[in-house]
Amino acid sequence: MSAPPATRVIKAQAAKDGAPEGGATAALAARVLAAGGLVAFPTETVYGLGADATNAEAVARLYEAKGRPSFNPLIAHVTDAAAARALARLDPAAERLAAAFWPGPLTLVLPRRSDCPVAELATAGLDTIAVRVPSHPVARDILAAVGRPLVAPSANRSGHVSPTTAQHVLADLRGRIEFDGGSTPMGLESTIVACLDAAVLLRPGALPRAQIERVVDLGEPPSAHTDAAPVAPGQLASHYAPRARLRLHAQNVQTGEALLAFGPVAAEGAERAALVLNLSTRGDLIEAAANLFSHLRALDAAGAATIAVMPVPHAGLGEAINDRLARAAAPRA
Ligand code: TXA
Ligand code: MG
Repeated sequence: MSAPPATRVIKAQAAKDGAPEGGATAALAARVLAAGGLVAFPTETVYGLGADATNAEAVARLYEAKGRPSFNPLIAHVTDAAAARALARLDPAAERLAAAFWPGPLTLVLPRRSDCPVAELATAGLDTIAVRVPSHPVARDILAAVGRPLVAPSANRSGHVSPTTAQHVLADLRGRIEFDGGSTPMGLESTIVACLDAAVLLRPGALPRAQIERVVDLGEPPSAHTDAAPVAPGQLASHYAPRARLRLHAQNVQTGEALLAFGPVAAEGAERAALVLNLSTRGDLIEAAANLFSHLRALDAAGAATIAVMPVPHAGLGEAINDRLARAAAPRA
């Protein structure tokens, strides 16, 4: 078997930073993408692995690279709401959400237009499509340069923790072109809201529920959510998983455990911990969200068999943080 090609890592600079390299790196990414290649790039939430959404072969290569089941559809990333309207139908609630939060960490699941140019494989044959307008300048430059929608799942192997730095991407996916734009500012995936009949929250994420509820009423999520037929198909119970076992709501630390702390370290026996990382010593949920995946990766890399996790409050971004922790702790398939 031949070794996979080495990954080319390119320092990404946004054109808007006034750096002349910005346009050039985006143009390079656009050339690779237009030729059916895969490019990893930062967004404001996590790193994405991008492919031309209209090229079925490129989309197939993307599923293969991630080891992702092809029944799990992808998010189409576009430059603005006008480009979203070419793919999907936005009802008045969707229009209000788009006006309030795009560009930004909100994904809308919408009815797919019959003339939508996105490959059927990317939407797993569904009659809906997930669409998002990212705000990260590097992602925006690449989208503008390529001039078509890009599907971009989080740039990790399927089931692993999402990457928030270029180094995380490298550790998971070899042999791709990758744009290093530093740490992603938010560190949690976008919030997903379906605007089909009623607006429904499918995945808590970097945009807190309360902000969405200022713009639209959220209906009850469908109750028929099972691992066999998940509501957001990628929302399997065990997901975002590190190798280590997670012990949630830990009030104490057992010998040999690593500790993932939040706020002042109150866990009894914390001095026994093999390693302590704090999501936010000052108990700030925004900082905690940004640190969550990189701290899980770092504790995992240190070889702890079990990570004790101190309680994280449920308010604001805490909903999404607790969602990811619960999935990381769930029994593996
Ligand atoms: O922040 C993000 O959203 C990142 C960055 C890179 O943009 N992307 C991301 O993509 O998290 P991914 O593929 O890792 O997660 C997308 C989720 C999956 O759970 C998938 O099942 C769900 O969106 N999804 C995609 N299309 C859907 C649809 N038509 N209906 C319901 N859920 C859908
Ligand atoms: Mg993902």
